[in-house]
Parts: sequence; C-alpha cells; structure tokens
Amino acid sequence: MSLQDKVAIVTGGSRGIGRAIALALAGAGAKVAFCHNGDPAAAGTLAEINQLSTGMERTADVADEAAIAGLFDAVDAALGPVDILVNNAGILRESPLAQTDVAEFDRVIAVNLRGTFLASREFVRRTDAGRIINIASDLGILGRQDMAAYTASKGAIIALTRTLALELAPGILVNAIAPGSIETDMTSPAHMSPEQLARDMASPLARFGQPEDIAAMALFLAGPGAGFVTGQCFGVNGGSVMY
Ligand SMILES: NC(=O)c1ccc[n+]([C@@H]2O[C@H](COP(=O)([O-])OP(=O)(O)OC[C@H]3O[C@@H](n4cnc5c(N)ncnc54)[C@H](O)[C@@H]3O)[C@@H](O)[C@H]2O)c1
Repeated sequence: MSLQDKVAIVTGGSRGIGRAIALALAGAGAKVAFCHNGDPAAAGTLAEINQLSTGMERTADVADEAAIAGLFDAVDAALGPVDILVNNAGILRESPLAQTDVAEFDRVIAVNLRGTFLASREFVRRTDAGRIINIASDLGILGRQDMAAYTASKGAIIALTRTLALELAPGILVNAIAPGSIETDMTSPAHMSPEQLARDMASPLARFGQPEDIAAMALFLAGPGAGFVTGQCFGVNGGSVMY
C-alpha cells in the first residue's frame, strides 16, 4: 500500500482514464476524490473506490475558478490536505479549422488548459509538497488534422508541465502522461469520425490501449519510485511517438 494515508484528487474521474487512475490510486491505499461534469457514472465509480479505500465525488467544472476552489475546500474538509493532483478532465471537439467557431475553440482550451492551470494553482496555494500528474496526449506532439483546439491545449499542457516542474521544485514533482488512443467514451464512434479512428490505428501496436495502461503510469508517478522524476512527459501510446 505505497500510497497509504495520501489524499488524491483526480479531475474527470467518473469514467474512462480518470476512473482507472482513481481506482489504481485507491488500490494503493490513497483516499481519492474526483470531480466530473455531472456524469451519471460517478456514483458507480465512487462505490468502486469505497470498496478499496475512502472516496468522494463532486460535480465541478474544472474551467470554473470558484468551482475548483470549492472542490479543494470540500476535499480538505472530508479527506484532509491533498498530496496528489491528477489533471485528467478533458474534452475533444473534431472540426476543420474554417468551421471551428470561437466559442468551441475557447471551451476546449478552457476545460483542458485553464482547468489544468486552475487546479494546479489551487494545489500549490495549499501545499509545498506532493505530485502533479497532467494528462496530455500524443496528439499534442504529433498534431492532428481537424483538432486545432484539442492539440493546441495538449501541447500547452506539456509546456506547462515543464514550467511547473521548474517553479515548484524541489517539493512538488510535476510530470505529464501523453496517452495514445485509449478505448473510452472519447474515442467511441459516437465522438470520433471513422477517418480519425483509422489514423489512431497507424501506431506500431495498431490497437487501442486501455485506461488501465495509463493508470499504471500514473500510479508509478504518484508513488515513492518516482522521487527523482520531474518535468517529464511519458508516452503510453503503442509507439505512436518515440522519444
Ligand atoms: N481516450 C483517449 O484516446 C485519450 C488519448 C489521449 C489523451 N486523452 C485524455 O485523457 C483524459 C481523459 O479522457 P477519456 O478518454 O477518459 O475521456 P472521457 O470522455 O471518457 O472522460 C472525461 C472525464 O472528464 C470529465 N469532464 C469533462 N469535462 C469536464 C469539466 N469541464 N469539468 C470537470 N470534469 C469534466 C467527465 O465527466 C469525465 O469524467 C482527457 O484529458 C483526454 O484528453 C484521452
């Protein structure tokens, strides 16, 4: 139980990659709070966390400054001071540049990038020790047609990771994970075109990863084995990007 007595927040932890990370941290003994955007799956995920450890869930928009402060206040009161922050909440919108309106562009940046900034800032205002793990994307490195806002937000998260690693050392270690295509709601045919899904299969392993593949890396980065690791971006991507 390498994370016994630690307290973690996972943004966007109700389903998909965030859920798998929340369960992995709880399985290692951490108390785990997660927020979501009103997802009906949240109650089931909370029950799973509570079978392993102690959990809490809250609807909170990561793009909203007051909502993030309220989330940290509630977690402090219920579980104690936060040791581990996983900035996972994210949205993807697929549209050609010419058809992308300003509101759509701004919303993707607000959830993915401003959300990571707001939660990291709230964390840092309350502690000078711990771990921040940011969920970026291989597309933030590779680029991808018809995903301008998404890829820009994810590239910026990798840059932000490096800056925060410099600024918050030595007490807080900050790393990113850049997943390749992972089988979740975000990559379901309801949310991605067949052309994009075909591009996702172009990596050497030519298949989707599972949320647990990302959770394994997050668990390592949250734990004692990663004490000399900061400012890095880890590709868990089936070989789509090779560093
Ligand atoms: N699935 C992939 O192939 C893939 C690849 C690379 C990176 N990622 C990244 O991994 C993260 C998780 O993606 P996923 O595939 O599990 O997605 P998902 O759509 O299955 O889950 C998204 C989660 O974020 C929450 N969320 C969405 N908007 C929110 C908001 N404004 N405030 C708070 N919570 C919000 C949802 O409630 C949900 O819990 C995202 O940042 C995504 O960009 C995913």
